[in-house]
Amino acid sequence: MKGQEQERSRLARDLHDGVGGLLSGVKLRLSSMKGNFYLPEESAISLQGIIGQLDNSIQELRRVSHNMMPEALIKYGLKEALENYTDYIQSSGALQIQLQLYGLEHRLNQDTEIILYRIVQELLTNVIKHAQATNVLLQFIRNNDRFTLTVEDNGKGFDKDPEGAKNGAGLSNINARVAYLNGNMDINTAPGKGCSITIEGAIRQNTPGGS
Ligand SMILES: Nc1ncnc2c1ncn2[C@@H]1O[C@H](COP(=O)(O)OP(=O)(O)O)[C@@H](O)[C@H]1O
Ligand SMILES: [Mg+2]
Repeated sequence: MKGQEQERSRLARDLHDGVGGLLSGVKLRLSSMKGNFYLPEESAISLQGIIGQLDNSIQELRRVSHNMMPEALIKYGLKEALENYTDYIQSSGALQIQLQLYGLEHRLNQDTEIILYRIVQELLTNVIKHAQATNVLLQFIRNNDRFTLTVEDNGKGFDKDPEGAKNGAGLSNINARVAYLNGNMDINTAPGKGCSITIEGAIRQNTPGGS
């Protein structure tokens, strides 16, 4: 898991700084060219369209690289990354997120921060994809070397299969991450009743020489 996250981090930076930087340069040069010589109206419109497409490509690239590894997570830690992420989701307007973070004044060990972030990412993606909810509570409480994470939505809920056999890749991945944190996950849901997921587990301590 660790090597994979490092690789993601490197790829995200290469995409953002490398490809993103190149595209932004192209956009700048095209934009400045635009006013420099006479173009027939049709070509001017087409050039404007190309610049617009470049803009979209740059935005999409930022989104992808950010999903791979948010810069704020590495630089400023879980608290800031979760605040940014939920702001971003809320800015689309469809979902209200109530964010309650306790005990995150100090940074956790980096592996743990990344794992917890990935878990929240999947849980909120599920709410967006499946729940048709209007409100979500995202609560994270750190208490010494333990944490409790709750994601609760007011959406349509689902029929939970007792063995978890019908779980998709998302919930299975979460289970694997939770196991890594010596924790457990409790899913409380039923059709029409929203969905509340609580995960609790251990905060890994910084290991000497680890990052
Ligand atoms: N918050 C939620 N609200 C409603 N249904 C959900 C929610 N979270 C998960 N589900 C249901 O559980 C299934 C499994 O989720 P998951 O393992 O993440 O797989 P995927 O998202 O790829 O379908 C989803 O397909 C969906 O039917
Ligand atoms: Mg999913």
